Amino acid sequence: MLTNVVGRIFLLKNFRFSQNLNSNINPNLSLLRKWRNSANTVFSRRISLEAKKADQDGFVPFLEMMRCRRSEASKSVLVQVQSAQSYKELHSYCSTFGTVNNIFHYTAGGEQLHFLIVEFSKESEVQQLLTYSSHVNDFEGIPVQTNFLWFKASGRKSKLKQSKSIKLDIENGNCIPKEEDIREALRSCNNISEQISTLHNITTLNEVATRLRFLTARQVEMCLLGLFPNAIAYPFGSSVNGFGKMGCDLDLVLRLAGDKISGESRLVFHSKALNGYDRSISQRHMEVMGDLLQFFLPGCTQIRKILQARVPIIKYYQQLTDVECDLSMSNMSGVCMSDLLYMFGSIDERVRPLVFTIRKWAKEVGLTNSSPGRWITNFSMTLLVLAFLQQPDNCPPILPTFNTLIKNAGSKDKFVTEDGINCTFLRDIEKLKYKTTNTDNLESLLKQFCEFYSSFDFSTKAVCLNEAVSITKPEHSPLYIVNPLERGLNVSKNVSLEELEKFKYELRNATWILESQEKKTSNWGILEMFESKRKVYPSNSVIPSKQGRLMEVSKLFDDTEQTQESVIIKNENVEKEIQQIRTDTNQRIRNIGNNIRKVSRQKSRR
Ligand code: GTP
Ligand code: MG
Repeated sequence: MLTNVVGRIFLLKNFRFSQNLNSNINPNLSLLRKWRNSANTVFSRRISLEAKKADQDGFVPFLEMMRCRRSEASKSVLVQVQSAQSYKELHSYCSTFGTVNNIFHYTAGGEQLHFLIVEFSKESEVQQLLTYSSHVNDFEGIPVQTNFLWFKASGRKSKLKQSKSIKLDIENGNCIPKEEDIREALRSCNNISEQISTLHNITTLNEVATRLRFLTARQVEMCLLGLFPNAIAYPFGSSVNGFGKMGCDLDLVLRLAGDKISGESRLVFHSKALNGYDRSISQRHMEVMGDLLQFFLPGCTQIRKILQARVPIIKYYQQLTDVECDLSMSNMSGVCMSDLLYMFGSIDERVRPLVFTIRKWAKEVGLTNSSPGRWITNFSMTLLVLAFLQQPDNCPPILPTFNTLIKNAGSKDKFVTEDGINCTFLRDIEKLKYKTTNTDNLESLLKQFCEFYSSFDFSTKAVCLNEAVSITKPEHSPLYIVNPLERGLNVSKNVSLEELEKFKYELRNATWILESQEKKTSNWGILEMFESKRKVYPSNSVIPSKQGRLMEVSKLFDDTEQTQESVIIKNENVEKEIQQIRTDTNQRIRNIGNNIRKVSRQKSRR
């Protein structure tokens, strides 16, 4: 049960897609077979990162995983080709520069454009290939040299010897699963626990999508190579923390000096002086970076500079890798946070499937939204799940507290960001002196999660991963989730009271659905949960709340002004906020009400 999934992912050296696909999956699911054939499952991730990993059967710590993935990217190029079949010719061509380890195929631009990722055995071989490659005419394009190229037709019959034994490692490896296919797979599961793990298996970020994210980061580094040869663009967030699904965005933090800071050398580079942190200067730097991406880097489009934000970012779309990117130049705390989430996700194999299902549910019922707002973010939702799994009420808890990870830290785990955030915690779960004996299945955990938070006293308590007890809220934000790395900060400060109420309401709906599964209709189990906003509930259902807020569920969907009046708020501190949300959400509530009535009418006709 507690086998380390992440570790296993990296084991099989030169794994061929046709082999060994049956280890982890319900063999009855024809749909999942289809996924296997299109190389878009978690199984396609089981390609070794490096030969040396092949004989290790254990956990790969986050920083080691990052190092291997970055190294893989620096040994790879991305080449646009005419079709998947071009791999034979490209393989022959590339073999003149070195040993080709892997070739992966994927499409972009609505499957119109074909690309191959060619991985060599050494970075120097990529260097040779790049040195030999040419630019288009100066008037036609900016002659930058990055890892993104295209393969010119030879014009005459290629004389290159093509080995028949060469095979594509993965074909069409970056397909985002279609919603209908996901649903079909979930419908054919035998129980809710199986649905939860199936959802995780078919939506989790796969091998090609992961490589594309590291190649996208590598392109940014290569663009700066002349001035900043040590620059590192670190991927963080869901692309690397184990909670990423296919199509997730790529969060990048650019460190111009890389890890070459305060080295042993007595010779230190002269540099322009920076007097501490000057916000306007760092905004200018970001602006220059945005211009570089916009005017020089192939594939970078839709550049948006968001410089006034607390952490200024450049948003862009890399169309050659089909990745939405958020580039910042802030500190390393985001990377450390990803390390922490990666750790928690690796401690027990139930964590990631549960987080995937809860994040998907939150999206489907409108609790989360990809644009920023007053709603709960995916990141906050993940922390809520992790905090729940630490609760002593789950007898015994599945996850250790963050303080346990801090106490177990060794000398190699010490890390303090340049602005003083202490990110020291145990990085190797094999050294963790904690093993749970909890054997609850995923279905049971999902129900417990919904029950736990629907009765959580959000009005006075904060959710905290540092210890397994809920602590008193230090201020009045409706939802308070302590940032584990910076305890004085609330990661869910943006969440409004209305969104919190909606969360609690949806939790009760979900509990109701999970408890009342009588017979398997077409959309049963978590599928029914995802559709909860279209369900009709007993009209006298009431959401009780410990802080004296009462909400009649039936009235929530009433299409009149009175609806708003039925929300009885006794807490005077939140009156102002409620006033605001009335305006903001009137339309939203009306829409939900309309949907519910529509479904209700359809049902009564039946
Ligand atoms: P996706 O929705 O799949 O992108 O999930 P994500 O975890 O990548 O979330 P997002 O892109 O919004 O944020 C990227 C990372 O930034 C997160 O994983 C966190 O490490 C960090 N982050 C996001 N929001 C906050 C916040 O409010 N406070 C802090 N300290 N870190 C945050
Ligand atoms: Mg993200």
